[in-house]
Amino acid sequence: MSIPPSNIPANDIPPARRQAAIEVKPAIKRSHSWWKMALSLLILAGAGTVGVWQWDRLSAQAAGIKAAIAEGNLPLPRWDNFSQGKLRQGSDSQRSRPAANAEQDSAGSTVGSIPPEQLLNHRHYEEVPPEALVSLNSKSAIKLQPAAQASINAMIAQAKADGVKLGIISGFRSLEDQNYLFFDVKKERGETSQTRAEVSAPPGYSEHHTGYAVDFIDESQPQTELEESFETTPAYRWLQKNAAFYNFEMSFPQDPSSPVGYEPWHWRYVGDQQSLELFYGDQSIRQPASN
Ligand code: DAL
Ligand code: ZN
Repeated sequence: MSIPPSNIPANDIPPARRQAAIEVKPAIKRSHSWWKMALSLLILAGAGTVGVWQWDRLSAQAAGIKAAIAEGNLPLPRWDNFSQGKLRQGSDSQRSRPAANAEQDSAGSTVGSIPPEQLLNHRHYEEVPPEALVSLNSKSAIKLQPAAQASINAMIAQAKADGVKLGIISGFRSLEDQNYLFFDVKKERGETSQTRAEVSAPPGYSEHHTGYAVDFIDESQPQTELEESFETTPAYRWLQKNAAFYNFEMSFPQDPSSPVGYEPWHWRYVGDQQSLELFYGDQSIRQPASN
């Protein structure tokens, strides 16, 4: 059996591509020289004039787009483009009808537009829009759904009070991140799609796209990060005992019959209607009836 290069992650986002723990804010150089202020005022005045001048045209364009959406005439991104990381998906309602630019195969069915609901044993998830997410805290670049963020912060604080160094290393992950994680790592390792999918979801199929899933760590035992040995840590034991009180559950528990591997570090928030429907909803009943 060949041994994978040590710089390639076994199961999750590699350290080099993770969301940085500390947001690096460029230093703002303060200067109050009068000519800079005058120049800024001039630019602002110019922008304002152009804005007023263009207002009617922009309003008309916005109304046109709104009408196109209402009539269902807006061309939708093709799934094959999306899966190559070129486009982002539309909303659920967009996804539940064929795209305007979809192709038909010889049997007349639509191909290349609507992602399958399951792929290699992973469910399909939309990538949550960035405006729906909040940072874990003021120093973190990890993004989460607000309900999950509040719960995680409460857990970390309680664990700390209990003497446990619970932390997280990832929350929301983009399609681009997942694209790297699935296809690039698979290629570097020469893995089959099935083997890769045992530890990594294909892009468009990771719970991390929802902003409700997180990867926990025990900060006192970094060698257990994203490893099955995480289950031996105080942080894991704390989670087992307490996570349900914070509406978190393990997504991939130990189950020899499951095609997806055991991930004791990966948990998801199921504390509101939206998250519950995402993870437990029967997606097939949301499809329109075929004619
Ligand atoms: N590691 C989990 C399955 C993911 O990639 O979402
Ligand atoms: Zn994960």
